[in-house]
Amino acid sequence: MSRTPQRRAVVVGTGHRAQTFTRALAERPGHLVAALCDPSPTRMAFHNRLLAGAGEPAATEWEPGRFADLLTEEGIDEVVVTTVDAEHDRYIVPALEAGCRVVTEKPMTVDAERCARILDTVRSTGNTLTVAFNYRFNPVHEKVRELLADGAIGEILSVHFEWLLDVRHGADYFRRWHREKDRSGGLMVHKSSHHFDLVNWWLADEPRDVFGYGRLGFYGRAAGERHGLRRDYDRAHGADQAADDPFALDLSANDTLRALYLDAERDGGYVRDRNVFGGPVTIEDDMAVLVRYAGGTTMTYHLTAYSPWEGYRVMFNGSAGRLELEVEESRWQRPATRIDSAGGALHGDTAAEHAGGARLTLRPLWRAPLDVPLVTAHEAHGGGDPRMLDALFGPVDGARPAGAAAVAHPTATERDGALALAVGLAANRCFETGLPVAVAELVPGIRAESGAHRDQGEEGEPGDQVQAR
Ligand SMILES: NC(=O)c1ccc[n+]([C@@H]2O[C@H](COP(=O)([O-])OP(=O)(O)OC[C@H]3O[C@@H](n4cnc5c(N)ncnc54)[C@H](O)[C@@H]3O)[C@@H](O)[C@H]2O)c1
Repeated sequence: MSRTPQRRAVVVGTGHRAQTFTRALAERPGHLVAALCDPSPTRMAFHNRLLAGAGEPAATEWEPGRFADLLTEEGIDEVVVTTVDAEHDRYIVPALEAGCRVVTEKPMTVDAERCARILDTVRSTGNTLTVAFNYRFNPVHEKVRELLADGAIGEILSVHFEWLLDVRHGADYFRRWHREKDRSGGLMVHKSSHHFDLVNWWLADEPRDVFGYGRLGFYGRAAGERHGLRRDYDRAHGADQAADDPFALDLSANDTLRALYLDAERDGGYVRDRNVFGGPVTIEDDMAVLVRYAGGTTMTYHLTAYSPWEGYRVMFNGSAGRLELEVEESRWQRPATRIDSAGGALHGDTAAEHAGGARLTLRPLWRAPLDVPLVTAHEAHGGGDPRMLDALFGPVDGARPAGAAAVAHPTATERDGALALAVGLAANRCFETGLPVAVAELVPGIRAESGAHRDQGEEGEPGDQVQAR
C-alpha cells in the first residue's frame, strides 16, 4: 500500500497557540512534525506529549540559536512560526531563504524595519509567506465579504468598527510579554492587525492615511491606583493579595496553564500571571483610529481592552444601503480566577461561558431591513481555525480538496500581512506624535509590492486557494 508522502515541519515557539498547529499537523497524514524549536525544553516536552497522544513519533527539540542547523539536519519542508511577535522575522527570513514553505502567526512582525526585511527577502528569493489570519475564515466574516463584493450596499463609502475585549481576555494582554510594545507592537499591531486585515479584505482596498489617539487608561499601576482597582502584588502565584482579585490568573488551577507556564519557569524568566495593575506597561488599552483607503472609503475604529462584554460591531455605509454586523462573543464575565477549560476560553479557542449571538442586518435604501441567515460558532475563533487549517494543510482525512467549494478561502500573503501591520504601526506613530501618517512613508516599498500571489497550498498545486485580490 503506498503511503502519503509527508512534508517535514518544524513548529517554532511551542506555547499556547502552537498547540493548534501541532495538533493540526499531527492529524493530517501529509505532514509530520519533525522538529520543535523554543528556548523552553519544558514547553517543547509538552508539545511532544501532544504528539505522543496523537500516536505520532517524537519530534527533535532545538534551541533557537540552532535554527539554521535544524532546517538542514531535519530536512525541513515547512516552517510554522508561533513564537513571540517580535521574534517572527528571525525565523521567517532564514526559512524563506532556505526555500521552505513558511506559515506565520499574526502579526507578521512588529515594526517597519522587520517588515521591510521580510518583504525584501520575499522579493529576492521569489518564495512566498502565508500569514495565518484565521478571522478571514470565520463563516460570518465570509458572508460579509460576499455581500459587499456582490454590491449589496453599492459603493462602500465608510466603515464604523468597534471591537471590545473584556476584562478576562483583554486583561490577559497585560499579564505577560504583550504588555511590552517592543515585543508585541502593542494592541494596534498584536490584536488589531486581525481587524485591519479583515477591513482591507472586506473592502478589497488598501489603507493610505491613518490618524489616531491611544492611551493606557485602565491597566497599569497608575490607572489601577486611580480607579481603586490595584492590589499590591507582583504576580498572582503565591500572592495572598491575589487570592480574591478578579483580575488575577491562577495558573495552578488549570493543567495546561500549569504545564506550559508554571512548570516552565525553571527554563527562564517567562512569568505568565503578572498583576495587570503593575508595571511597566508600554502598550495602550483604549485606542481611537481613523483610516482613509485608496478608494476613498473612510473607517472610524475603536479598540477597548477593558469592557464588561466581548465582541464587535461593524457597520458599512454604502450608496445603496447599510450592512450591520454585531457579534457577542461573551455577554459578561463572572469574577472567577479559575480557568476551567484547557486555557482556551481566555483567547477564543473554546466558547466563552456566556457566549451571545451574532446578527447581520442588511438595510437597503427604501426597503425593509433583512436579517441575513448566519452559521455561527464561538469556539475555535468563530469557527475560523479548522477551516483555515484545512486551507493551509489539507483536510484531516487526507483527501484532496474537492472542487471550488472546498478551496474558496483566501489565505493571506506577506503583502496582506504588511498592509494590516502598516495601519497598526501608523496608529502607534500617531499616538506618539499627534500627527497623521501616510502608510507608504512608514513602510517604504509597500506600494511597489507585486500584489497577490497564489499560495501553493496543500501538495503545492497552484490554484488550490483563491486570493482575495
Ligand atoms: N490567530 C490567533 O487567533 C492567535 C491566537 C493566539 C496567539 N496568536 C499568535 O501566536 C503567537 C504565540 O502566541 P501565544 O499566545 O502562543 O504565546 P506564548 O507565550 O504562549 O508562546 C510563545 C512561545 O514562544 C517562545 N519563544 C520566546 N522567545 C522565542 C525565541 N526567540 N525563539 C523561539 N521561541 C521563542 C516562548 O518560549 C513560548 O513558548 C503570537 O504571535 C500570537 O500573536 C494568534
